[in-house]
Amino acid sequence: EAIEKGGYDHFMLKEIMEQPKSIEDCLRGRVIAEDLHVKLGGIQQHLPDLLNANRIIILACGTSWHAGLVAEYVFEELTRIPVEVEYASEFRYRNPIVGKGDVIIAISQSGETADTLAAIEMAKERGATILGVCNVVGSSIARASHEGAYTHAGPEIGVASTKAFTAQLTVLTSMALMVAKEKKSISENRLSELLRDLEQVPAKVEQVLKLDSAIESIAEIYKDASNCLYLGRGYNFPVALEGALKLKEISYIHAEGYPAAEMKHGPIALIDEEMPVIFIATRDSSYDKVVSNIQEVKARKGRVIAIVTEGDALIPKMVDHVIEVPNIHEMLMPMISVIPLQLLSYYIAVMRDCNVDQPRNLAKSVTVE
Ligand code: G6P
Repeated sequence: EAIEKGGYDHFMLKEIMEQPKSIEDCLRGRVIAEDLHVKLGGIQQHLPDLLNANRIIILACGTSWHAGLVAEYVFEELTRIPVEVEYASEFRYRNPIVGKGDVIIAISQSGETADTLAAIEMAKERGATILGVCNVVGSSIARASHEGAYTHAGPEIGVASTKAFTAQLTVLTSMALMVAKEKKSISENRLSELLRDLEQVPAKVEQVLKLDSAIESIAEIYKDASNCLYLGRGYNFPVALEGALKLKEISYIHAEGYPAAEMKHGPIALIDEEMPVIFIATRDSSYDKVVSNIQEVKARKGRVIAIVTEGDALIPKMVDHVIEVPNIHEMLMPMISVIPLQLLSYYIAVMRDCNVDQPRNLAKSVTVE
């Protein structure tokens, strides 16, 4: 097992550190920016269904559902096809309106999650096209899908999903760009800019991973927290949910992710000097609004850790700790901004002596209801 961990103390850390490579593997042959090339070989026969879809329904659970939320924003922005994201477990039991003309994208690392599998079987029976985004080759969801694209992240052993999440985002973004290119719902300039940025994701992730000892020092300060709030807007809202999930899963600290603007409808009541608030506040179209949300938290004496874009001169003056990440198109930022949150959870869990790779009560894949 020591050999399998490749010199790391835990599979989770190894898998976090592998992300530059796993994202690179996921892009290989699929995206070539110079040639404006973006193609997923596994989705060709049913590409017309996707191009002409009335709507896309994304079905998933857990971390994969968070990847689906990012994909909703990306697909709607680039392709103008309406997208819904549903928990597979809710969808399957609520007699949903689904049928011919709908395209289901099922996201699952293991490809074995019982709820996701049952939900796609039902949608398939009702005439929808099913596309699988799985990591495990030949898994049940991959086999039950009409077509699909693998995430090629390699085996993920740690129960808390890390490299599978960024690989899912890579595939889903590539898929949206492929559809947008075919539909001509994107200009050549924008396509070229996004493909170039996508190719730079592995190097930028690598850059963030170098911050691990700085993040470890922040973990030391907050390791005894009993609660934690994660806030973000736009493309970073699902990242807030994912950051909170990572922390609860492995450190057993109660954490909530929220869209920053919704804070005033509840979570703001929880803020005092004991409450660490993690803002994902990179420079994007909601930046100014997030800055106001940070001010609201500081006015109530909350302790703020902010993930900001390199060179940000404003937020560092307002908050307790900053973690700087490289700039990238806002649509791709979740692949970058999630990395410090994975590391923060990891170090906090290690300092609390938790079983990082196999947290209590959780399973890597949930094959029963
Ligand atoms: C379990 C795992 C999570 C995972 C979820 C969905 O709860 O612990 O890490 O996100 O299942 O799994 P899937 O394999 O379908 O992505």
